Amino acid sequence: MEVVICRDAQEVGELAADRVIAYLEGIHTPVIGLATGSSPLALYAELSRRVQAGTFDFSHGLGFALDEYVGIDPDHPESYRNVIRRTVVEPLKMDPGRVRVPNGFAADLQGAADEYDAAIEEAGGVDVQILGIGSNGHIGFNEPFSSFSSRTRVKTLTPQTREDNARFFNSLDEVPRHCVTQGLGTIMDSRVAVLVATGEHKADAIAAMIEGPVSQRCPASILQFHPRAVIVIDEGAASKLE
Ligand code: F6R
Repeated sequence: MEVVICRDAQEVGELAADRVIAYLEGIHTPVIGLATGSSPLALYAELSRRVQAGTFDFSHGLGFALDEYVGIDPDHPESYRNVIRRTVVEPLKMDPGRVRVPNGFAADLQGAADEYDAAIEEAGGVDVQILGIGSNGHIGFNEPFSSFSSRTRVKTLTPQTREDNARFFNSLDEVPRHCVTQGLGTIMDSRVAVLVATGEHKADAIAAMIEGPVSQRCPASILQFHPRAVIVIDEGAASKLE
């Protein structure tokens, strides 16, 4: 695990973008794994700036989102399908047909989840997985006590995660209760994992991930076993490291 501590969110975005581009460069059909939420926005904005400047081209890339809410109308502005389109596909000028998001609306949710894992495998696996971290240590929506070997499947969101995400909805009641998420096993198969986090509200989760025991209590701690995990955080998120 490599830990890089930056001054602020902008520097986190810039440094993480440098790393992502360096890892993807030279790969014939690069595959990126995409997190949603606030944490990676500065990174996506920086990648977009480089696309506009002509120093980064990702039009030939493939993308797989980490997760999606179950039962949310795909046209809802906060469905992850829409969030990924708005924050990644359009700004990075990616081909929308080459970016997939788990299907949270399928009649057979597990069948669609299995098919999603198969599509990742068929693409050759994820080259660079972008990750955020929940205040309870989740990655993707693998909440505490998720199995370390899990693959894409339906999970129940914890009250804490629903509260954390209520800011994207009109009320807590509107926040979906279930999601489809790539598993910890799926995430661990990525060749490189780049996790970004900012702010003191993430400090406990970051300390547990980096310095705590590898435990399902903090699902992100499994990244201690990832062959190439880079953690890019600001001083607030680093404030509880020893
Ligand atoms: C969402 C995801 C989650 C978020 C986490 C942090 O696709 O993977 O693990 O990264 O909930 O969310 P933010 O960045 O909004 O604090």
